Amino acid sequence: MKILVINGSPKGQKSNTMWLTNAFISGFPDTAEVKIIHLKDKDIHPCMGCFSCWTKTPGRCAIQDDMQEIYQAILESDVIIESMPLYFAGVPSRIRMMTERCLLFTKRYEGSPEDSFHTILELDEHNLMDKKLVLISSCGYVSMDTMFEGLLKEYDLICGAGNYTKILCAQGELLQAGDRTRQVVNYLEDVREAGREFYENGCLTPERERKLSEPMVSPKTFEILIKRYWSERM
Ligand SMILES: Cc1cc2nc3c(=O)[nH]c(=O)nc-3n(C[C@H](O)[C@H](O)[C@H](O)COP(=O)(O)O)c2cc1C
Repeated sequence: MKILVINGSPKGQKSNTMWLTNAFISGFPDTAEVKIIHLKDKDIHPCMGCFSCWTKTPGRCAIQDDMQEIYQAILESDVIIESMPLYFAGVPSRIRMMTERCLLFTKRYEGSPEDSFHTILELDEHNLMDKKLVLISSCGYVSMDTMFEGLLKEYDLICGAGNYTKILCAQGELLQAGDRTRQVVNYLEDVREAGREFYENGCLTPERERKLSEPMVSPKTFEILIKRYWSERM
């Protein structure tokens, strides 16, 4: 199986979220082929809104930049993992920029009320609907309660609710403690199990999803740890 990881954090390798993503892919067998693209290292220009990809050059973008390599990587993969921080309750700018440039993977919208976003993704020549998408994100808030609502709404509209797997983690700054803090180690172990489960079954069990949606530490402990974290960084 070919796995493509797209890291949308401006921190590249030092991303909190990549702790989750690396744990997730460590649950895959050695035979899995994993390619990681750090968007921060790529030259990606914003969509110009010219609709060339729907008109003059169907399925091709008018802009020549590193997106060409990313289109190829997307088409060659079986699983796409988008790894990103939550920024202002939504996607960070590099992911937004990349997503807008993916209009070429959609079919021209010609006004039917029945067409939704994910039905226009069903271009036969790209087989995008045969690929699996995993959304992995971390945020800085103490819990997940409301923080990811906007992000999930966006992915539900684009992909169709239930058509993608998600791992969303609150208290993201704690992930930097990586293998030094028991609660983080336990959480990452669960994420690794989630990776194993996903590879075998193509989805996560409701029990796994429930476990991963629980914060790593209690609100009280989080407040102590996060105050210490900021004072050390001052
Ligand atoms: C510009 C900016 C906006 C952010 N917006 C939110 C937010 O809306 N909600 C939240 O809980 N955390 C927010 N955060 C915190 C990040 O989501 C958190 O630090 C995350 O773990 C960073 O992941 P990364 O290291 O993979 O980039 C924001 C951070 C930055 C720098």
